[in-house]
Amino acid sequence: MIRMKDVLAEKGTDVWSVGSDNTVFQALELMAEKEIGALLVMDGDKVKGLFSERDYARKVILKGRSSKDTNISMVMTDKVFCTTPNDSADQCMALMTEKRVRHLPVVDDGKVVGLISIGDVVKSIISEQQSTINVLETYITS
Ligand SMILES: NC(=O)c1ccc[n+]([C@@H]2O[C@H](COP(=O)([O-])OP(=O)(O)OC[C@H]3O[C@@H](n4cnc5c(N)ncnc54)[C@H](O)[C@@H]3O)[C@@H](O)[C@H]2O)c1
Repeated sequence: MIRMKDVLAEKGTDVWSVGSDNTVFQALELMAEKEIGALLVMDGDKVKGLFSERDYARKVILKGRSSKDTNISMVMTDKVFCTTPNDSADQCMALMTEKRVRHLPVVDDGKVVGLISIGDVVKSIISEQQSTINVLETYITS
């Protein structure tokens, strides 16, 4: 069973974040530089929210706000769902589906130790299923 600690071991434990008083424009610059679709919003080591491309589309563009004059705190999602290093990929996919979110910080003992996206979870589930198929093919043909 693939767990979030295995996913982080492969993708890395970097967590890209902004402060709640950063502007939306600064957040977009970091998202473009890192080629990612969301940033954790942190003040010090405290998680304050998550800012995603969806937040930008719905709360900035559609509301006619200016990204240079809008602070992240005004448009972030402040209810953040988390996972843990021991959670399985299936548990994460269930949480992402139920809560309709695509990014989850991985929290261990109250500390953020990584961040996983829906793409990471799908990739790990596909790779787990491929391993099962390989084992079954070997069994059938041997
Ligand atoms: N080949 C791979 O290993 C892989 C893994 C994940 C996603 N993808 C592809 O990337 C595209 C978009 O992926 P997505 O919708 O899952 O989300 P995304 O574009 O936000 O995430 C892409 C990668 O960046 C990482 N990431 C995103 N935000 C981060 C942050 N704030 N801090 C640290 N890491 C962060 C994710 O964990 C993921 O590995 C899709 O086309 C997907 O298939 C590929």
